[in-house]
Amino acid sequence: MKIVWITGASTGIGFATAKKFLDNNWKVIISSSNENKLNEAKNRILINSSNKELYSYKCDISNRDQVKDTVINIFNDIGDINLAILNAAAYSPNRDQEFSIDNYEMLIDVNLKGTLYCIEVLIEKMKELQSHIAIVTSPVGYRGLPTAGAYGLTKSGLINLGESLYFDLKKKKIKISIINPGFIKTESTKLNSFSMPFLKSSEFAANKIFKGLTGTYKFEIYFPWFFLIMLKIMRILPYKIYFYLISKFTKL
Ligand SMILES: NC(=O)c1ccc[n+]([C@@H]2O[C@H](COP(=O)([O-])OP(=O)(O)OC[C@H]3O[C@@H](n4cnc5c(N)ncnc54)[C@H](OP(=O)(O)O)[C@@H]3O)[C@@H](O)[C@H]2O)c1
Repeated sequence: MKIVWITGASTGIGFATAKKFLDNNWKVIISSSNENKLNEAKNRILINSSNKELYSYKCDISNRDQVKDTVINIFNDIGDINLAILNAAAYSPNRDQEFSIDNYEMLIDVNLKGTLYCIEVLIEKMKELQSHIAIVTSPVGYRGLPTAGAYGLTKSGLINLGESLYFDLKKKKIKISIINPGFIKTESTKLNSFSMPFLKSSEFAANKIFKGLTGTYKFEIYFPWFFLIMLKIMRILPYKIYFYLISKFTKL
């Protein structure tokens, strides 16, 4: 049985993805920072699953020692992680377009540094040729967007990191992917006050993630495809046109 570790799996995309892998006969390890939420998630998943190979490890990814201990414990207790889905993230828009250094620091600590701590220990422990790291990024990281300075900075950093590691991990024969979902209905997107085009469910995201990570190797997994292709085109527009279109669409 292959082993997948999913961070931030107590709710949303991570939770649905854990269910999907468990239903497809993987050994699944779920993590998140809040133990009560994590235990509740584990019970909810197990109720409807005949595969009982689900394990939970509380792990706040912004705590480097905790990440190191968790990954080492998983390798010792459960076995070698074949696939790590680094999905945990905090989300907090810049309120009223105000610059808040606290918000920047919190998001950098969890999303950027937290993901780096996971990668640090995974690279050390993962076996050549059998391992795959997938980072859940976001198309918000493709280009700057209003109110998204802090969150977008962390996600664009992670996209860049994934691209860079693609080259560096080739030597170690560890695969790396980035996952770019469009708008998915979760606790995080409840915070959005604007209308979200092409909004999809967590189950939709989980199906795409499972297919993308278990089929032929792809560096980028993105969905829904039509919305993401539109965003990819926006990525190459000249600034003048890009700023005009985003201001018109968001009214910000
Ligand atoms: N929803 C979307 O539209 C969308 C679009 C693009 C990308 N994404 C990305 O998809 C991923 C999942 O997002 P989601 O929408 O499913 O959000 P969500 O429902 O809010 O889930 C976030 C998860 O991360 C965990 N988490 C937060 N801080 C953590 C920490 N310090 N250490 C460990 N776990 C932590 C949370 O659990 P605890 O509170 O228990 O720690 C929760 O399980 C994120 O990387 C997000 O940026 C989402």
